[in-house]
Amino acid sequence: MNKISLTGVKPTGTPHIGNYFGAIKPAIEMSNNPELDSFYFIADYHALNFIKKKEELVQFTKEIACTWLACGLDPNKIVFYKQSQVPEVTELNWLLCNVTSKGLMNRAHAYKALVEKSLEAGDDPDALVNMGLYNYPILMAADILLFNTKFVPVGADQKQHVEMARDIAKAFNKRYGNTFVIPTEIIQESVATITGIDGRKMSKSYGNQIPLFCTEQELKKLISGIKTDSSLPTEPKSTDCAVFSLYKLFANKEELEAMAERFAKGISWADAKAELYSVANKYLTPMREKYNYYMTHYDEVEKMLDAGATKARAIAKETLARARAVIGLD
Ligand code: ADP
Ligand code: TRP
Repeated sequence: MNKISLTGVKPTGTPHIGNYFGAIKPAIEMSNNPELDSFYFIADYHALNFIKKKEELVQFTKEIACTWLACGLDPNKIVFYKQSQVPEVTELNWLLCNVTSKGLMNRAHAYKALVEKSLEAGDDPDALVNMGLYNYPILMAADILLFNTKFVPVGADQKQHVEMARDIAKAFNKRYGNTFVIPTEIIQESVATITGIDGRKMSKSYGNQIPLFCTEQELKKLISGIKTDSSLPTEPKSTDCAVFSLYKLFANKEELEAMAERFAKGISWADAKAELYSVANKYLTPMREKYNYYMTHYDEVEKMLDAGATKARAIAKETLARARAVIGLD
């Protein structure tokens, strides 16, 4: 039997270039490995912590589904579904809660960051924390363990969550005997952190993102707004900057070498940005066309998700039955 590779993306915003290079692209590349069976899903339960408006949840879910298809995900080759279509996830979540120590959850970066924020504001440490956020890593462990996942391709910021899934699997296996496969995160180091237009990590929390499928005009405008230093056009420029690091993602080898040379000799930021726009737009255009097709033919996408959920549930039921049996629930 092939090893399982699984990943999820939260529908919490319009997908951006950081999501693509950090998570979607490596995951799709992995799905082409014939030695792996891949599961990709939309983590809509995980999104509930961030998205409180129904219209937004529906819209972002649609955008994520169409993005993955536009980026080359083949729903005939991999299992593609919405997390909320697989209720077994929530049942396993509960079973896992009972082998997970509170101390483990206390160490989660996302939780700790909120606690710190409240403390700094002089508020109760848990003022900003609801149980969905607190239990977030357990739900993620359920996503992973339910499908006997071996590999979890994710961005570097998700490493701790996969480590926690591993700890939870081990705790369960220790108490009840070998039930779950122990998962490992796969982090593509070379594209681990994509830079945003202000030079920090691209993230919707910083508002510095470039949406993957914005229009050509928007793309041009966002690129022209990338923060640069005040060096003169003729001055040599360091390649350690947002413009170059984004250029690197879209360019081929020759383009990259030529650009590195121009940076060394001196290039105006306007020219560097124009070149970045040109390679980025060339790269993104065919995918953008597919994306626009799926967004306007969403019924086709929904059928694909339904078929994926049926396949996913067949496996989920088997794993859940195994877990229930070793616990003594059947
Ligand atoms: P955001 O930071 O914009 O809120 P998410 O947390 O929704 O993004 O991330 C979704 C996926 O995309 C995760 O697997 C995450 O690791 C990856 N990702 C997000 N931003 C980046 C980035 N700047 N570089 C690399 N990967 C990223
Ligand atoms: N927590 C992940 C994120 O923030 C999304 C996610 C949910 C996930 N369940 C998962 C990723 C299981 C990998 C495997 O992006």
